Amino acid sequence: MSIAPFHSLFPERAYKEIRSITVHGLRGLPDGQYGFLELYCIDPACDCRRVLIKETTQKITRMISDLSLIEPDSRWQSAFLDMAAEFAASGDGRYRAALTDFSAYRQRLTDDAHGDTLPAGRVRQTTYWGVADAQIVGCIHLRHDLTPALRQIGGHIGYVIRPAKRGHGYGTALLSQALDRARHMGLTRVLITCDVDNLASARVIEKNGGQLQEQAMIAGYTKMIARYWIDLSAAQ
Ligand SMILES: CC(C)(COP(=O)(O)OP(=O)(O)OC[C@H]1O[C@@H](n2cnc3c(N)ncnc32)[C@H](O)[C@@H]1OP(=O)(O)O)[C@@H](O)C(=O)NCCC(=O)NCCS
Repeated sequence: MSIAPFHSLFPERAYKEIRSITVHGLRGLPDGQYGFLELYCIDPACDCRRVLIKETTQKITRMISDLSLIEPDSRWQSAFLDMAAEFAASGDGRYRAALTDFSAYRQRLTDDAHGDTLPAGRVRQTTYWGVADAQIVGCIHLRHDLTPALRQIGGHIGYVIRPAKRGHGYGTALLSQALDRARHMGLTRVLITCDVDNLASARVIEKNGGQLQEQAMIAGYTKMIARYWIDLSAAQ
């Protein structure tokens, strides 16, 4: 019998359905909030249909509301489209392709990550979605290598936080977790670039240990670019 927490397989639904009680003054039970964590048998060869309800402290709510990175997953389609619609409503059309055909969009992200059908001059790129409170709060793209063009602008990592979630620390947390993934990928340092006037992005990079290498103009781009390196061999 193999038991899995319901929220690890259906996070969006689990978050909506989670039940908790607040205990106060009950003999034998410390005061506090208790959540009910559902676990169930996922062994396809087993027909026990067993569901266990385990009481936890409020950590369970925190566990689900903390930021975590996931790879693109169709189970998160409605959450992703919710974010894409928010971008569109704010006048930012970057997820238009997902709103038109989510399956094709997600497939392209998977292909980019695996590098199966990369056009010449492109390197593998893994996308992660940042999930918190059962919402996708932002996206991060991790390039496995640099090209001459990416050395100029783009670097190893690009990120964006949905408009309504900016200024809550998610950009900083998202980049921090992406650096762990980059380290596991075998990168020893990463290049990140941003427009010199993108103060929020510069701050996110600096808070993650970014060292400014240079500021430069590049052909065909109207803004000055700042290039930062982050050393991944430094203490974590
Ligand atoms: C850049 C971006 C990812 C930041 O995400 P975020 O979740 O708002 O970032 P955080 O909340 O973690 O941190 C933002 C930091 O920038 C600071 N900041 C925000 N606006 C600022 C401004 N106009 N001037 C100076 N600092 C600013 C915040 O105070 C905060 O720093 P602090 O924690 O020291 O106070 C987000 O603004 C975004 O998605 N922008 C559009 C896409 C983009 O520019 N991506 C980066 C491309 S290089």
